[in-house]
Amino acid sequence: MNWHSRYLQQAAWTRDLRVYLFEQAGLANARSVLEVGCGTGAVLRELNTPAAIHGLDFNPAALSECRIHAPSVFLARGDGYSLPYPDKYFDIAYCHFLLLWVKDPYQVVCEMARVSRAVLALAEPDYSGRVDEPAGLKLLGEWQTEALRRQGADPKFGAQLAETFYQAGIKLIETGPIQSQAVMRSAEDWENEWVVIESDLEGSVTGQEIQKMRELDKATRSRNERCLHVPTFFAWGKT
Ligand SMILES: C[S@@+](CC[C@H](N)C(=O)[O-])C[C@H]1O[C@@H](n2cnc3c(N)ncnc32)[C@H](O)[C@@H]1O
Repeated sequence: MNWHSRYLQQAAWTRDLRVYLFEQAGLANARSVLEVGCGTGAVLRELNTPAAIHGLDFNPAALSECRIHAPSVFLARGDGYSLPYPDKYFDIAYCHFLLLWVKDPYQVVCEMARVSRAVLALAEPDYSGRVDEPAGLKLLGEWQTEALRRQGADPKFGAQLAETFYQAGIKLIETGPIQSQAVMRSAEDWENEWVVIESDLEGSVTGQEIQKMRELDKATRSRNERCLHVPTFFAWGKT
């Protein structure tokens, strides 16, 4: 599994929304910005700002790759639960597909609020609202949701995002679902999606069952009957 390719694909889904939200949050006049859980830098490398850009992740391999894709960024190895920065050090702290992966997202959001003046959570999915059409493909959604759980994620976290911001004392400015048009998939996107599905389901579903789903998926896409939608939420606010 090439994680950077996957992160690039996800970054493409949220690009338009990010441009809008960063503008609202004052990126143009920011002096310092932090991404918590920056991974391989798929989002960091696209930040268009004169601000000092910082990225933090607890995975050293991701940080090494991030150094290649975003060479001018200040990178730190650390944990979102306890950010190694003073209070209000950043104008903006943001995350992207992070909070579903942490056991205590409230604590991470509190830390982001402590170190910054504005907090943005750009994309957090809620798989409980996943739609797979036609009905024969619903099982695929169930398998993948279960696979996320097995990998340690909370697949429903997106539905709690705004509430988590309130609880962390952040003055919520805007929240909502990412427009599904942003996730229109090219043939290449579907290929990448299947790489993720096959990696997620390895060991829990037989190769034969996966292949059957893949063929059904392909056939229904060729007839424009396929719908795959995972409601994904954003929120931003001031501290
Ligand atoms: C799904 S990836 C997203 C990477 C990047 N934000 C993006 O969208 O391309 C989640 C990242 O968060 C990091 N991560 C997860 N829990 C973390 C924690 N508690 N502290 C710091 N990083 C964490 C992982 O190592 C991984 O790189």
